[in-house]
Amino acid sequence: MGKSRLEGKVALITGGARGMGASEAQLFLDEGAKVVITDILDEVGQETARRLSPDGSQCVFYHHDVTSESDWESVVADAISAFGKIDVLVNNAGVFEQGSILDTSLKNFERTMDINVTGVFLGMKAVAPHMVQRKQGSIINISSVAGLNGTPGFVAYGASKWAVRGMTKGVAKELAPFGVRVNSIHPGIIDTPMLQTFDEAGEGVREMVRTRIPLGYEAEPIHVARLALYLGSDDSAYSTGSEFIVDGGWSA
Ligand SMILES: NC(=O)c1ccc[n+]([C@@H]2O[C@H](COP(=O)([O-])OP(=O)(O)OC[C@H]3O[C@@H](n4cnc5c(N)ncnc54)[C@H](O)[C@@H]3O)[C@@H](O)[C@H]2O)c1
Repeated sequence: MGKSRLEGKVALITGGARGMGASEAQLFLDEGAKVVITDILDEVGQETARRLSPDGSQCVFYHHDVTSESDWESVVADAISAFGKIDVLVNNAGVFEQGSILDTSLKNFERTMDINVTGVFLGMKAVAPHMVQRKQGSIINISSVAGLNGTPGFVAYGASKWAVRGMTKGVAKELAPFGVRVNSIHPGIIDTPMLQTFDEAGEGVREMVRTRIPLGYEAEPIHVARLALYLGSDDSAYSTGSEFIVDGGWSA
């Protein structure tokens, strides 16, 4: 594999302070891209950007709540003024909400939908005019295996990740005539801070989940980052509106 699959490209990664987003930022930089990471976690985000690009010439961090349309406007404008353009958007920011239909409150359902769905909608809306004008671009929406089938105990999260998958397909067809591609990634169980929910759910829960993964282990964020790299690069030029699964066989 070459080491410059994103040479000359600029990527914006939401929720990039830690977890999968930070891993994608690192890999994209290694492959020649300039990267803007955004998050609500300002200190962690600043630290990640400094670690990845100490002089700030390759990677910058901006505060960004993905549920805010005005935050999106300023982040996109700032990214373009810092690095000239946006070629790749990774709508990665998200929250996990555990709960069945019997015990999920409307408030928690709406919060999950706001971040995981409205955030992705606003992201696509904010970059689309720029990408359409340039007649190129790749949008990568992070869904989940919970957006592929019914997952008990994930009523809000599942609804949000199915919505991401559905929006991806419709928008892919809307933007295809302009050379802009939109795909979704469906990770299985990935070892990031998000998995703390399993740890908090009780001893042995995480181990029980692990035994259900056909490959027998949780993925590292880099496994997902490599798929995002493929979708952000021209290697995936003929793919749009598709689901890309990285789940160790979970959904097979
Ligand atoms: N970890 C898994 O097993 C797994 C599996 C499938 C899908 N996913 C999805 O992958 C994506 C990344 O998750 P992760 O596992 O790296 O978790 P994570 O919690 O480490 O990272 C998510 C990031 O999103 C940020 N974020 C949350 N709300 C935000 C908001 N309103 N505005 C901006 N940023 C916000 C968080 O601060 C955090 O840095 C999420 O969309 C998640 O749903 C994770």
